[in-house]
Amino acid sequence: MDKKYKRTTVTSALPYANGPVHIGHLAGVYVPADIYVRYLRLKKEDVLFIGGSDEHGVPITIRARKEGVTPQDIVDHYHNLIKKSFKEFGISFDVYGRTSSDIHKKTATEFFEKLYGDDKFVKNTNQQYYDPEAKQFLADRYITGTCPHCGNENAYGDQCEKCGTSLSPMELINPKSAISGAKPELRETTHWYLPLDQYEDWLRQWILEDHKEWRPNVYGQCKSWLDMHLKPRAVTRDLDWGIPVPVEGAEGKVLYVWFDAPIGYISNTKELLPDSWEKWWKDPETRLVHFIGKDNIVFHCIVFPSMLKAEGSYILPDNVPANEFLNLEGDKISTSKNWAVWLNEYLEDLPGKQDVLRYVLTANAPETKDNDFTWKDFQARNNNELVAVYGNFVNRALVLTDKYFDGKVPAVTELTDYDKQTINEFIGVKEEVEKLLDVFKFRDAQKEAMNLARIGNKYLADTEPWHLIKTDKQRVATILNISLQLVANLAIAFEPFLPFSSEKLRQMLNMKEFNWENLGHTDLLEDGHQLGKAELLFEKIDDSVVEAQVQKLEDRKKENAEKNYRANEIRQTIEFSDFEKLDIRVGTVLECQKVPKADKLLQFLIDDGLDKRTIVSGIAKHYSPEKLIGKQVCFVANLAPRKLKGIESQGMILSAENVDGSLAVISPSKEVKPGSEVK
Ligand code: MF3
Ligand code: ZN
Repeated sequence: MDKKYKRTTVTSALPYANGPVHIGHLAGVYVPADIYVRYLRLKKEDVLFIGGSDEHGVPITIRARKEGVTPQDIVDHYHNLIKKSFKEFGISFDVYGRTSSDIHKKTATEFFEKLYGDDKFVKNTNQQYYDPEAKQFLADRYITGTCPHCGNENAYGDQCEKCGTSLSPMELINPKSAISGAKPELRETTHWYLPLDQYEDWLRQWILEDHKEWRPNVYGQCKSWLDMHLKPRAVTRDLDWGIPVPVEGAEGKVLYVWFDAPIGYISNTKELLPDSWEKWWKDPETRLVHFIGKDNIVFHCIVFPSMLKAEGSYILPDNVPANEFLNLEGDKISTSKNWAVWLNEYLEDLPGKQDVLRYVLTANAPETKDNDFTWKDFQARNNNELVAVYGNFVNRALVLTDKYFDGKVPAVTELTDYDKQTINEFIGVKEEVEKLLDVFKFRDAQKEAMNLARIGNKYLADTEPWHLIKTDKQRVATILNISLQLVANLAIAFEPFLPFSSEKLRQMLNMKEFNWENLGHTDLLEDGHQLGKAELLFEKIDDSVVEAQVQKLEDRKKENAEKNYRANEIRQTIEFSDFEKLDIRVGTVLECQKVPKADKLLQFLIDDGLDKRTIVSGIAKHYSPEKLIGKQVCFVANLAPRKLKGIESQGMILSAENVDGSLAVISPSKEVKPGSEVK
């Protein structure tokens, strides 16, 4: 990285204030951002770390409606909770603002007005779903209906959560308003669009040519967006929660949440530095770095830069080190399914263990691919690395000094070749860690820092001062001096990663000077320097502790399954004549195979008594195809044919859904002739 900058503005994605924050947030965004900022501060560079809550958007209004409170109530609650969690985990923001603040409203409004005045938007009228009972336009999330791909009856207007396909509301079969249940109608509405197509050439040059150094996952995602060509994006919405569109005739419209939220970075800077914020955003000698998760890449690499470019007076991001996702015990983290380790709960169960979580999340950081958090790995990393390597080395060095030299740093008399070799090894660590941090490779950087402790442990094990003390106290003095210098180096090297432990270690060492430049030096503690009191840096975590956490997750899984089951309530009664319309038959499975590129679907060839018919069914997760061949199944024979993954399915195979979501195919209890009716 070139050194031609004067200062660095670091932003971290503003989390939605509609739920607490969990380990996925920490691992993906806030811990890496915090490591980076602490590193720059230790190097005495000028850096500003911006955070805050994202308090607009439709999910917040949905949550408020469900709970019978106002959106403001929701964001007030979660903003405070989130802010507190970040503080407790040592995420060292210079400011933590919120997008419902007055300063943000003003900043975002002025930003829109500038673009509007400069004719940077295009205005467009089209048809959108409107709820005639609730008298409002419906956001995509507020429309439910049947998924055209998998038949799920509760798909949302933007996505089907069952098969994961992204949808537009117009694709839903039998759309319904989630507010009133009414059938929505199409009505005309006008919105303002940022014509991203006009920025495409510029973006291609700026990203694909000038920023080849961006992480491959970020660069790749940008390239595929650009290759698919950009379309104008609406920056306004018909909604009653958000920042009003400052244009006459735009009553009832607000700025789209993804338009106002990134401007929040600027607003929060203004809140902190009302008089000097501009140099952090407009001086070409300022470097702007956005820490985000992979679902935010398009907004930070394409949309927001285009907004900044359109505005004209701002700098553009220098780098956007986005992470992939962290899973939990093999499953995707989900707020709505309560599948997460919430930061507030973690600290209740494991008080004081902030650094352990920081360490484990960095050791498993999803930097290049999705990664998995497991409690077993958490325990292993704590016990085998933090306790056995780092903590153990520090403890031995301090306790031995206390015992043999009354806690005063003993002087070196003569260095052996082995001492020199050890010192050389650890001097190189500074450069290594730096090189890695400068290119946002936090996982490797932490590993490198841990090597310092490994070097120390090996040094003590090889030199065995506890044996030598009887015969050669001078030699022991040298060994402990070197060990203590190493410990002081560890306190510095780990400060960005494990700030709480570094602070503790600093007190144990009674260490005054503390900056990055000192790293790699062997004179950090003077001869005769009085050390503080030795304490344990880390504690072993017992099986029972992690077993309790695993149990907690298993209980949640059960709870979820039961909730789903109860949600499947018996529907409205129907007339017998309605039932008679269904033609259910027994058929024999002749062939069965997986549908390529569809991990849920099986393709059947069924003997239906008269003929052979093809049926596609979403049970591939529950049966291997060979097991079904020769079996008799029940199927709806007169369902209108539909295409699934290009295959025409002539009917539907019936199965029962168990409480845990697993499926069991329905078969007659004794063999019957294919084509027999089920009544
Ligand atoms: N709230 C968004 C999310 O959690 C992130 C917003 S980042 C900002 O995905 F740039 F818009 F602030
Ligand atoms: Zn679907």
